[in-house]
Amino acid sequence: MVIIDGKKVSAQVKEQVASETKELIAQGVTPGLAVILVGDDPASRVYVNNKKKACEFVGFKSEEFALPATTTQEELLALVDELNNRKDINGILCQLPLPKGLDDNAVIEAISPLKDVDAFHKQNVGRIMIGDYDFLPCTPAGIMEMLHAYDIDVDGKNCVVIGRSNIVGKPMGMLLLHENGTVTICHSHTKNLKEITANADILVAAIGRAKFVTADMVKEGAVVIDVGMNRDENGKLCGDVDFENVKDKCSYITPVPGGVGPMTIATLMKNTLKAARLQNNL
Ligand code: GUN
Repeated sequence: MVIIDGKKVSAQVKEQVASETKELIAQGVTPGLAVILVGDDPASRVYVNNKKKACEFVGFKSEEFALPATTTQEELLALVDELNNRKDINGILCQLPLPKGLDDNAVIEAISPLKDVDAFHKQNVGRIMIGDYDFLPCTPAGIMEMLHAYDIDVDGKNCVVIGRSNIVGKPMGMLLLHENGTVTICHSHTKNLKEITANADILVAAIGRAKFVTADMVKEGAVVIDVGMNRDENGKLCGDVDFENVKDKCSYITPVPGGVGPMTIATLMKNTLKAARLQNNL
């Protein structure tokens, strides 16, 4: 059993981005990422801080817009509009979910598709469907990069994704399909979940429930990817997979923390670099 080291792979990706950023800066373009955080959700604050830290590491300019939970939809959309028009901002990221009363989808649609480094805009989502895209969604693309780094071949494999969110589950299925996986997406209405997951060569858990995937749900020798970020009964950070009991059945497994999370951020850096290039025809 191999524990996939997301920190290590993400460090390699960020090194590559940093080196390409140096070249871009030499040509007069410093990639700029705007990070919008509305409200005071502690988890979102941690994610945003990590994204800013990564920007610093690779040599981007990052600008944080921390808005109170009382921000109105109009105020938020006005900020997005201003950022859409700023030449020095190449990527715009609004940390989701937004506090109650604000509409995630309205903000996603307001961000210029050219600056949509999360790849959440319907124009970018559509382009991913047909395989003609500039940006890939950060978490699924980070997972694919991790599989590649460990030479895990998807072609012809039974791939099972648990979770059908627009951010992870649905695009994850699509990226696995692009690499010729046979993909099943499971969700809360799925019948006989255990029978389906127990046939997975590659199992991606993106449910949002602590230790939901237990050993009896996993096939011997499976690759298990854990997208979860939860707190267990003792308040300790844990994934959607019961790591301690599942790990010995796996050929590969990602830990939480130190698995998928750092890869999400590494992909965000890649997307922002690409956005800066595209916007400057470089
Ligand atoms: N919330 C959970 N994951 C993400 C992500 O990848 N991007 C943004 N903007 N918000 C998120």
